[in-house]
Amino acid sequence: MTKYEYGVRRAIVIEQVPGKVDMDKLVSLCKRRGFIFPSSDIYGGMGACYDYGPLGVELKNNVKKAWWKAVIQERDDMVGLDASILMHPQTWVASGHVEGFADPLVECKQCHQRWRADHIKDGKCPACGGDLTESRMFNLMFKTFVGPVEDEASVAYLRPETAQGIFVNFQNVLNSTRKKLPFGIAQMGKSFRNEITTGNFIFRMREFEQMEIEYFVRPGTDEDWFKHWVEQRFNWYTNLGIKKDNLRLRQHAKDELAHYARDCYDIEYLFPIGWSEIEGIANRTDFDLKQHSKYSGKDLSYFDEETKEHIIPYVIEPSAGVDRSVLAFLADSYDEEKDKEGLRVILRLHYALAPIKVAVLPLSRNEKLLPLSREVYNSLRNCWMVQYDDAQSIGRRYRRQDEIGTPFCVTIDFQSLEDEQVTVRERDNMRQIRVPIETLASTLDAKLNYEPLEVLPPGGKKWLGFD
Ligand code: GAP
Repeated sequence: MTKYEYGVRRAIVIEQVPGKVDMDKLVSLCKRRGFIFPSSDIYGGMGACYDYGPLGVELKNNVKKAWWKAVIQERDDMVGLDASILMHPQTWVASGHVEGFADPLVECKQCHQRWRADHIKDGKCPACGGDLTESRMFNLMFKTFVGPVEDEASVAYLRPETAQGIFVNFQNVLNSTRKKLPFGIAQMGKSFRNEITTGNFIFRMREFEQMEIEYFVRPGTDEDWFKHWVEQRFNWYTNLGIKKDNLRLRQHAKDELAHYARDCYDIEYLFPIGWSEIEGIANRTDFDLKQHSKYSGKDLSYFDEETKEHIIPYVIEPSAGVDRSVLAFLADSYDEEKDKEGLRVILRLHYALAPIKVAVLPLSRNEKLLPLSREVYNSLRNCWMVQYDDAQSIGRRYRRQDEIGTPFCVTIDFQSLEDEQVTVRERDNMRQIRVPIETLASTLDAKLNYEPLEVLPPGGKKWLGFD
């Protein structure tokens, strides 16, 4: 019988990287401003599960939208899929997960806490220093039962990766789309892993989201396509603002490779806890299609019109974590600046990712400003996520928007009532321009697409902060 090995899952070094934002600071900002909350908070939390709050869900959706745009919308050779989380249990036998998707587990003989053996540094329990048991393999899949009877015949698993939903639909997609090699199928969605040691906020969760691509190619062309995807996926992060210095590629050593992989590169990000994986790109060869063909008895070959042969395509798999990407985007964009009012905290998120694109801020709550302010707000909110805020001083409101990464604030003042112009302030260097209300939406649209602030609409002027 084949022995499936998921390779050595590298332990992460858990220590604060100098110069990087403190993880606690990020966790606290996320909770205070409604990005991310511990799951079931009022009951004390649920280990390694998190809830995305009002701003977090916007950020996360924007990350997913940016991925979908890059890998499907902008390519001719890709299609999307949304497979179910519960799949036929044979899927996981064929994929090797039932036999081999496991981590080494040790238990403390004194306090009975359980740990991942490869996370232990000195052979002692990290909690109490007690002796540990011999390690045994612990399967990470969550088991459940389908239907009203809880017996072995009704066992099902919550999917530990979205990938298998793609492989089992290979023929369905091929038949319905008439795609020719090379082509790929992408999907994103929830995956579940009963991780032994967790922590580090949303870095390692038990319920998380993946964005995965299975790209099918002719055998022999796989190495070139592998390089293509490594490059594409690396550039996706930098195009969305991640600093190049905080990103690196790491090739898997032979003993790290999963049983299905011929080659694998991790895209690693310099998290506050050290260099760790956000995405893996693997050459999975023809392993999965062959396995599913064998276990299902269905022909999963591709008829090559050029050579008139049936072939089993090779697969290149770029597999990214949504939550780890969110964490990387948050950590990379976090910035602090000292100024005369204290500390300005800024999330310098790429505009495409910012949860709120524009804030509309009347200078004060004076009722004369109200009708025009509401009118401006209503005219913008069908274009983007826009916030209206009239509480406290204008300075504090700017700070509040900076802290959640809002690229532009629009201020309506008394002069606006006379000249029908408003102030647009940009987040990153606080420069301001004065813009006629009638061109406000088109101006903001251009600025949100990174047109320089100094490019002005007819009648617009430079205002504050320009040299
Ligand atoms: N189909 C291949 C696969 O699932 P993986 O390296 O196990 O490969 C891919 O997972 C990505 O999913 C990782 O790079 C990571 O971003 C994310 N991921 C995996 N386990 C995770 C967890 N417990 N919590 C958060 N994200 C996780």
